[in-house]
Amino acid sequence: MLQKIQDMLNEVENLEAHSAEEIEALRIKYLSKKGSIAALMNDFRTVPAEQKKEVGIKINELKTRAFDKINSLRAAFAQTDTDDSDIDITRTAYPTPLGTRHPLTIVKNEIVDIFSRLGFSLAEGPEVEDDWHVFGSMNFADDHPARDMQDTFFIEARPDVILRTHTSSVQSRVMEHTQPPIRVICPGRVYRNEAISARAHCFFHQVEGLYVDREVSFTDLKQVLLLFAREMFGENTQIRLRPSYFPFTEPSAEMDISCNICGGKGCSFCKHTGWVEILGCGMVDPAVLELNGIDPTIYKGYAFGMGVERITNLKYQVKDLRMFSENDMRFLKEFEAAN
Ligand code: PHE
Repeated sequence: MLQKIQDMLNEVENLEAHSAEEIEALRIKYLSKKGSIAALMNDFRTVPAEQKKEVGIKINELKTRAFDKINSLRAAFAQTDTDDSDIDITRTAYPTPLGTRHPLTIVKNEIVDIFSRLGFSLAEGPEVEDDWHVFGSMNFADDHPARDMQDTFFIEARPDVILRTHTSSVQSRVMEHTQPPIRVICPGRVYRNEAISARAHCFFHQVEGLYVDREVSFTDLKQVLLLFAREMFGENTQIRLRPSYFPFTEPSAEMDISCNICGGKGCSFCKHTGWVEILGCGMVDPAVLELNGIDPTIYKGYAFGMGVERITNLKYQVKDLRMFSENDMRFLKEFEAAN
């Protein structure tokens, strides 16, 4: 009997298997109710009393070894089975919720993308600026109302330091370091001292563009803006330019697009005019070129500037500007699909 057990122990130690089925077959052969170890247990009754202790210990040892062996075959097999698959063992165990891009970022990226396809490169600059880059270099007269405390955030201890009210300051920074041809797009956050409401906020986002070269005309500006409007709002979009005024452009215009909600027929969104305003633009005033170190007798330029919130409102009909900065997950989640 002892010899039989010892033989089976050796057998068990040398077991091999190449598939889950083979392992299961071994389990049945040795460990099931009708398996060979159970058969030995049956024979145990016939063992003489003085040998029972020794044989009992051996049978138990055999049982444990067989159990362990089959389990280790199973574990080894499970490992080889998945080893060469692309399972990432460094991944966190639980699904981590992914964030989504903010709607303003989605729209800003789209604007930047359209203009970069037209050859504009990206320029960024500081939000905390000096008076020169925001106003002085942009041809604002010393007593221009935009410099007034009502529009601009000043820093008490340093009257020269302000929060930029537009990203034209970045255009100025580009011009002071670069000679034409210049083709830049300047996205960024800007600040104005306004009471917060559904229609106004003390900060918002702009994308401004600047093009300076030898032969630049208003026609170029109009064509680029038409292309932009159609890329952004669809190929049937119409544009119209209305005369306007900015200290840094001459002539200046404001651009409307045919209302993308009613298609120009007139609705409450466009106040039944069929048009909605989206940006300001114009030919760079020669005085601005001169102030920024570019010879206006050789070069000309155009510039435009738009509010990202405005464009986002038009695209997604967000009625209340405050939604953009309240971090309400229910609102932000609605833009998941646009990411
Ligand atoms: N800087 C202007 C603003 O902030 C926008 C603008 C840029 C207008 C360039 C014309 C040309 O309102």
